[in-house]
Amino acid sequence: MRAVDIIVKKRDQGELARDEIDYFVRGFTNGDIPDYQASAWAMAVMLNGMTPAETASLAMAMANSGTVLDLTGVVDIAVDKHSSGGVGDKTSLAVLPMVAACGLPVGKMSGRGLGFSGGTLDKLESIPGFRCDLTTEEFKTQLKEHGIVLTGQSVDLAPADGKLYALRDVTGTVPSIPLIASSIMCKKIAGGAHAILLDVKTGLGAFMETLPEAHQLADLMVAIGREAGRETAALISDMNQPLGFAVGNALEVQEAFDTLHDGGPADFREHCLQVSAHMLVLGKRVKNINAGRVMAETSLADGSAFEKFRVLVKAQGGDVSYVDQPDKLPRSKYIEKVLAPLGGYLSQVQARKIGEASVELGAGRAKKGDPIDHAVGVVIHHKVGDKIEKGQLLFTIHANDRQRLETGRKALLEAHEFSDTPVSPLPLFYE
Ligand code: URA
Repeated sequence: MRAVDIIVKKRDQGELARDEIDYFVRGFTNGDIPDYQASAWAMAVMLNGMTPAETASLAMAMANSGTVLDLTGVVDIAVDKHSSGGVGDKTSLAVLPMVAACGLPVGKMSGRGLGFSGGTLDKLESIPGFRCDLTTEEFKTQLKEHGIVLTGQSVDLAPADGKLYALRDVTGTVPSIPLIASSIMCKKIAGGAHAILLDVKTGLGAFMETLPEAHQLADLMVAIGREAGRETAALISDMNQPLGFAVGNALEVQEAFDTLHDGGPADFREHCLQVSAHMLVLGKRVKNINAGRVMAETSLADGSAFEKFRVLVKAQGGDVSYVDQPDKLPRSKYIEKVLAPLGGYLSQVQARKIGEASVELGAGRAKKGDPIDHAVGVVIHHKVGDKIEKGQLLFTIHANDRQRLETGRKALLEAHEFSDTPVSPLPLFYE
């Protein structure tokens, strides 16, 4: 077999066989196939697409390029979740303890924020000492002992994906649905969970801006998961406006605590209950979504979900006093309330613009490895459809730099759009 023939076949819209994809991924991972050939191949895939069978082969080949965690003998069944990313999406911080408190082990490897979209690990590191670099052995031991793990990706997890993603990032080949589906699923499969719930976001602050694209991505990922023998399901949820109110690392941790204390913003709480209910069904803890929802609600009401979060923080070396006294979380120097410049019905609270403003304040990074400021961000106070009076509190900026605060204020005002006529609230879930 030759790499060039595989590239030519894809260039000419042929369908690659599993052994051809295995050969290409193996050669690229061990360095026999150079970056320029992998880039040419990625562009051919970007332009010509891949069939579901090719996409599944690519996901499996990339999963098998490193260690595939085997949780046999560790727990009977473990569940994982994945969100395709967005603004204010702190779901894992609340849902993992909720599901674990219901007696279903959850082990998850998360990522960092990049661009306007936040990352779970950055949020968790608002708690001093919290370790996101567990070894595979630590992952297994903690899952067995405490039924909850939330850490970073281990170095040897799907190395082919890490290499390919770096190339895609600089060759204009990120926005390919089969490449995204295989990239996400190879890591989920390698993570070892028996059941996987996917939360595919759609809207102005999501990778998939339209519902048909989100649907296509969801279908492909579910098919890959099932082919790999994992119970897999997907939800498609809204990302036109931020989820919850808080955007920014420590601010989002605080909002997750509020939710775990049986409060929190109504949309975020409902989102977490739905996601938890589906995970509980996939993990065979309950028979149907309603029963899962009741169980998840109970975990919030009786404090067991919050207690699980404490257990998680303690197990991973974090300072639990920050969980018990969230006032200790990083706070910004300036906290500025911004009032509505006019009245009307909110027609947009644009997630992407809010995410970008939050990055501008220092909460995110423009490129991999940049430092972040855990204290800063924004708290919005209204959702699309709300009726606002001129002069009413619109959002609060948390900043550590006066200049950045002023730039953020302007961008955040632009993210809020008003209409004279009533506007319907946005749905939380589409499918
Ligand atoms: N997230 C991933 O892990 N991979 C992609 O290709 C896109 C988003």
